Amino acid sequence: MATQTLTQAIATLSLRAKDAPEKHKTDKPQEEVKPEETYKYAHLLPVFPKEHFPPLEPFEHVDPGHRALTHPNPRSFLDNATSVIELTPNLGTEVYGVNLAKLTSDERDQVALEVARRGLVVFRDQEEFIDRGPEFYLEWGRHFGRLHVHPTSGHPEGYPEFHLVYRDANSTLNFEIDDSITSTVWHSDVSYELQPPGLTTLFLLAQPHTGGDTLFTSQVSTLKKLSPAFVAFLKTLKAVHSGFEQADFSRSGRRGGVVRREPVQHVHPLVRRHPVTGEEALYVTKQFTRRIVGLKKEESDNILNFLYNHISGSVDLQARLHWSPKTVVLWDNRVTAHSAMADYGKELSKERRHGLRITPQAERPIPAWDGLEL
Ligand SMILES: [Fe+2]
Repeated sequence: MATQTLTQAIATLSLRAKDAPEKHKTDKPQEEVKPEETYKYAHLLPVFPKEHFPPLEPFEHVDPGHRALTHPNPRSFLDNATSVIELTPNLGTEVYGVNLAKLTSDERDQVALEVARRGLVVFRDQEEFIDRGPEFYLEWGRHFGRLHVHPTSGHPEGYPEFHLVYRDANSTLNFEIDDSITSTVWHSDVSYELQPPGLTTLFLLAQPHTGGDTLFTSQVSTLKKLSPAFVAFLKTLKAVHSGFEQADFSRSGRRGGVVRREPVQHVHPLVRRHPVTGEEALYVTKQFTRRIVGLKKEESDNILNFLYNHISGSVDLQARLHWSPKTVVLWDNRVTAHSAMADYGKELSKERRHGLRITPQAERPIPAWDGLEL
């Protein structure tokens, strides 16, 4: 090279590049170079057909975690795990070496119980699960309960049962946060339904190279931090959870602009009891809870705001999930709350984040105090 002229060196480099175009292509991050038509999960991109569904009917939920309670070793699905890590003392377990796609019915029951106990279980390296496709996702989800059809979100063509999380350089299909100083919105999913979800599965099909983590907290733990006298009072209370604002957001033409089922609101206890573990959990979140029934507005606002601040501020009770590729996450929506983190996209990055949620509904929330009438 030392004896080459600059022109000769450039010519040599050009020739090498011309001779080895495939190598240069495969060296680049796939998400950056793939045009839309070759995106591996293009068949799972969101669509917003103008369907209309009737109101949800009540149903009897039989929790699969119950079946695992009588199992001689309800954690035997972890026998072949290469690593089981407690993410925090109160919340979250991370598992390596277990292929979710290969679990038996009995082992799926065990998973339900483990998720109920730990709130959040993160399974890494789940390529087979993700690539099995939507018919498998349906079969997986129905093991845990009747699948919820989201009233406003985008879903893959032909599969309204799957809620899609989607954001790229040009669009976001979830709640707008542009007029807020933070993208953090603590919630448990669709708590406005009469029978909100229980064991929930979420995985990403595409993700930014950094950012887009998810925050989780244990609502069993946030409740335990409060004084017994205050908890005793909270157990006597119930609150309205509303889906109207979410529907209004779509009706204003944003997020795909469709409302496929008329919005509802329902009254739930402020403290609910898990049907399998018996654990008591706080059940209010800022996104959907609106008003404590029977209290004056100022009383309700102050108690709810105190609880929202307690939930968001108790970082010592939270886990922050980093989505390495091929991660499948399960949480129990009854005893946890979570928040997305939109710290990427638009001016920060043009990368796609594309997630698919499988959302079985569970029982109508059970009051922790038997005397509470809903
Ligand atoms: Fe959510």
